Amino acid sequence: MIRQQGRFFHLCDGAISYILEILDDGTPGHVYFGAAMADLELEDLEYMARRCGKSTGTVKAIAGTSFSLADQMLEYPVYGTTSFLEPALAMEQEGMPLYLRLAYTGFEIRDGKEKSMPGPQTRPDPKAQSLILHLADRDAQVEVDLSYTIYMQGATVVRSAKITNLANCPRNLTHAASGVLNVRDTGWNWIHLNGSWARERQIVEQALVPGTAVIESLTGASSHQCNPWNALVKSPDSPASCQGDNNLAYGCNLVYSSNFKAQADINEFGLLRVMEGIHPLTFGWTLQPLASFQTPEMLLFCSIEGLDGLSRVSSRFLRDHLINPNFVYKRRPVCLNSWEAVYFTLNEQNLLELAREAAKCGIDCFVVDDGWFGHRDLDNSSLGDWYPDQKKFPSGLDAFARQIRSLGMQFGLWFEPEMISEDSELYGKHPQWAVKPPAGQYSVGRSQLVLDFSCPEVVEYIFRQMCQVIESTKLSYIKWDMNRSITEAYSQYLAQEKEGQKEFFYRYIYGVYALYEKLTEAYPDVLIEGCAAGGGRFDPGILYYSPQIWTSDNTDAFDRLKIQYATSLAYPLSTLSNHISQFPSHQTGRTFTSEFQKDVALFGIFGYELNLIEDHRFSPADLTGQIGQYRQMEPAILHGDFYHLASPFASNEPAVALYWDGKRPQSAPKTASNSHQVLSKQEQAFVGFYQTLSSLHSIYRPALPLPFLADGQYLIQPLQAQSSMQLHLDLEEENPGKQTSDSQSARNMEPEVIRGQLLRHDGLRKPVKNNGSNRNVAQFIGDFQAMIIELKKIG
Ligand code: GLA
Repeated sequence: MIRQQGRFFHLCDGAISYILEILDDGTPGHVYFGAAMADLELEDLEYMARRCGKSTGTVKAIAGTSFSLADQMLEYPVYGTTSFLEPALAMEQEGMPLYLRLAYTGFEIRDGKEKSMPGPQTRPDPKAQSLILHLADRDAQVEVDLSYTIYMQGATVVRSAKITNLANCPRNLTHAASGVLNVRDTGWNWIHLNGSWARERQIVEQALVPGTAVIESLTGASSHQCNPWNALVKSPDSPASCQGDNNLAYGCNLVYSSNFKAQADINEFGLLRVMEGIHPLTFGWTLQPLASFQTPEMLLFCSIEGLDGLSRVSSRFLRDHLINPNFVYKRRPVCLNSWEAVYFTLNEQNLLELAREAAKCGIDCFVVDDGWFGHRDLDNSSLGDWYPDQKKFPSGLDAFARQIRSLGMQFGLWFEPEMISEDSELYGKHPQWAVKPPAGQYSVGRSQLVLDFSCPEVVEYIFRQMCQVIESTKLSYIKWDMNRSITEAYSQYLAQEKEGQKEFFYRYIYGVYALYEKLTEAYPDVLIEGCAAGGGRFDPGILYYSPQIWTSDNTDAFDRLKIQYATSLAYPLSTLSNHISQFPSHQTGRTFTSEFQKDVALFGIFGYELNLIEDHRFSPADLTGQIGQYRQMEPAILHGDFYHLASPFASNEPAVALYWDGKRPQSAPKTASNSHQVLSKQEQAFVGFYQTLSSLHSIYRPALPLPFLADGQYLIQPLQAQSSMQLHLDLEEENPGKQTSDSQSARNMEPEVIRGQLLRHDGLRKPVKNNGSNRNVAQFIGDFQAMIIELKKIG
């Protein structure tokens, strides 16, 4: 529900309220973002907006008054008058800055959400509502529409801005942030996810102080180094955290997959704001007369249950309103990917051997990774030549794909559509399609260059090549990779079209989205898994098309515990692609028990990256059992809520839990492709306990309260593959004839029945070594131990 009340606008989705006001000079200001307060009257809003003016000593925006923008919380700040922070919007005309005064001219409240621009965005929904605030600077002839969309119970505000040039000469847009999150009190910590290749998304928590803190990407992707997700939580020593402040937490994310900047500023009056959008350093846009530019959407999340609650808000929101609805709630194929198994040494024969083994284990989809095309025997050739290598597939890739299908599996292939090798036919034909400067030196990453996706002809060319392969092999799955950052960003196409080179990064990523759009429209049932040298482009823009993303090239289960824990603060578990891979780890050389690898990989979309012929740790029955366990957890992975109970960044004994009440999703769109999924009516919970290093007597009575459980009784037992009959019945619908068996080696923990009340308040006992004296406490002995405990409500 959105209401205008006097000079106020109140957006309330049932979970949160977001209130803004029109200030004395017509600038939109912020009043409140927090728990829902549906019934507020005008006098309440006036009371909320009341505050002490701090404008003594500031420059005044209106002569003869004390009104200044310096001490206001601004919804879309500009620079050049009385606010001195970085602007959300800046424009120039012939190199001269325009000092804008954007004043309110009117509003619209629209029922439903429509697709309002090309590319990724929150999905249309008849129950959503949007407020459009019209702003204008009549002298400068600029109009700005600020849009705010809420979805019922979404606890999220979706912001974007549309800027229109009304003058009869072109203007240059130099800054166009998507929005600002204003916070009115002090004592906040900023949480964000930083990393590198193979060490993506490590949690950073920094206390904010007056000044500016920045996270950003300039690599041409949302990047390994930073992620556009960030959050504000009360610092533990802030006074408000002791005042029963409902544990308020805010989060931001950006529906954009290229260079971005998010900055947290605290001004001289202690006002905190987080502004996020396209990175201005690598952005510029020419606005012709009457032309508009619409920013990507910024998502503003709010929870009164702290950071962990915030992760559930953003996960539900992304699932219900952004991620590809064709797949988001759909059962996913368990894949065997050939990469770590054979790397570039693949051929029809060794792949078929692997595939036959995979089929015996109940794997659903056989994926041939890099090396199947052109003459790619190493990573130094053939990108751009998307036709099968006949030496490796003498009977043809289509015939190979038929053999895979005849084994009862789907067929999947790796592509890196945005790249070109200098050693390729494509480069021979179209060297001008590579992104590089017209003269001089250029950088090369992994022996490859980037294709100019700002050019529609390039996108179309790659699309046509991919169509041919998809159709001839009846492809079910694509792994879409992107393995290098963009350097020396120069497009011959833009030069030829007389467009500014500063438009490159934005146009490039919208070229990527255009290819995604074409593929998902032409082949809606082909599942596209995102990847960028692991998890270098894990963001809402990609999730709009790809329901799952390869979380990291690092498949070491210990490192993955951290990467997955942190990634799941921002994104739903159903977007994390996790594989059991080679042993010892090809990235770190570490060894693990296979149980540990499996129990880490099971919290996400489960699969394998394993040479099943050479790996003697698992029998086919073991793998079938593991897949059975995944199938048992999968409804909760797709629909449920994830709880971060003990952090692997802080503890030697991390723990997580997954809970599904058996009913969600209430708001999930019903599409033909997800209506047939197996839905449990029963509550389900799975608790993952880990011990990374063995340590004695670390906790006297280790127990983990499970706040999500109801009253009543719960059967507690180690996760086992659903015993034969039930799983078989559930899967029969989609996989006629597939068998399963339970190979989980029983640990020394007998099933028990415990009251929910007790588990909620006192806690589930942790499986730790306890001097051998405690009855019925499963024991962890040694490093890298793990156990998943299943809880079933039985009364
Ligand atoms: C990237 C991906 C890997 C694999 C290789 C193939 O590094 O992240 O999973 O596909 O490329 O070259």
